[in-house]
Amino acid sequence: MNLAVLVSGSGSNLQAMIHAAEKGVLGGTVKTVISDRSEAFALQRARNHGIEAIYLNPRDFSCREDYDQSICTLLEERAIELIALAGFMRLLSPVFVRRYPGQIMNIHPSLLPAFPGLDGVKQALDYGVKVSGCTVHFVDEGLDTGPIILQEAVPVLETDHEETLHQRIHQVEHRLYPRAISLFMQGRLTVKGRRCIVDEG
Ligand code: GRF
Repeated sequence: MNLAVLVSGSGSNLQAMIHAAEKGVLGGTVKTVISDRSEAFALQRARNHGIEAIYLNPRDFSCREDYDQSICTLLEERAIELIALAGFMRLLSPVFVRRYPGQIMNIHPSLLPAFPGLDGVKQALDYGVKVSGCTVHFVDEGLDTGPIILQEAVPVLETDHEETLHQRIHQVEHRLYPRAISLFMQGRLTVKGRRCIVDEG
């Protein structure tokens, strides 16, 4: 199965997917990486592994829908079956989400539905929670609201600041996201209403 990864930044989650694919445990191939930022290090990570890396400048498009449509065209040309958002900083338009129902995943650095949107780690710290974590979920038309696939908790330490907590959450993300993708690739995820049933086999 062909996977596309949409990125805006460092791409450490992309890196984890590439490693899993190279080890043969992802269940698919990272076919293309698309970024809305030219300077995203994720593009370099893709190229380092011989993976196509495309920068698409949002300023070259008159509206969000046109931008998203051009991504969809790239995805269709490459017969993409699953799209993984990995630090992609744009909200997808309904046109995009409807074109790929149940085929778009995202990872968020909090235990949703707590602390959605920007700065999930900072929001959790500011609130004073004792436990945070990360969530892999399907993407719907809302902001971090789609059915939850996998979650894992990460304790918040009293000495934590945003960077240290995000670092420990990242470590869990790098394990969780490839696993969620692999479950999808094996057809082991079924969405029933808000719930995603995982067939553990
Ligand atoms: C991750 O923490 C993810 O949860 C959030 O953005 C961050 C991306 O990090 N959506 P990276 O670019 O994969 O290193």
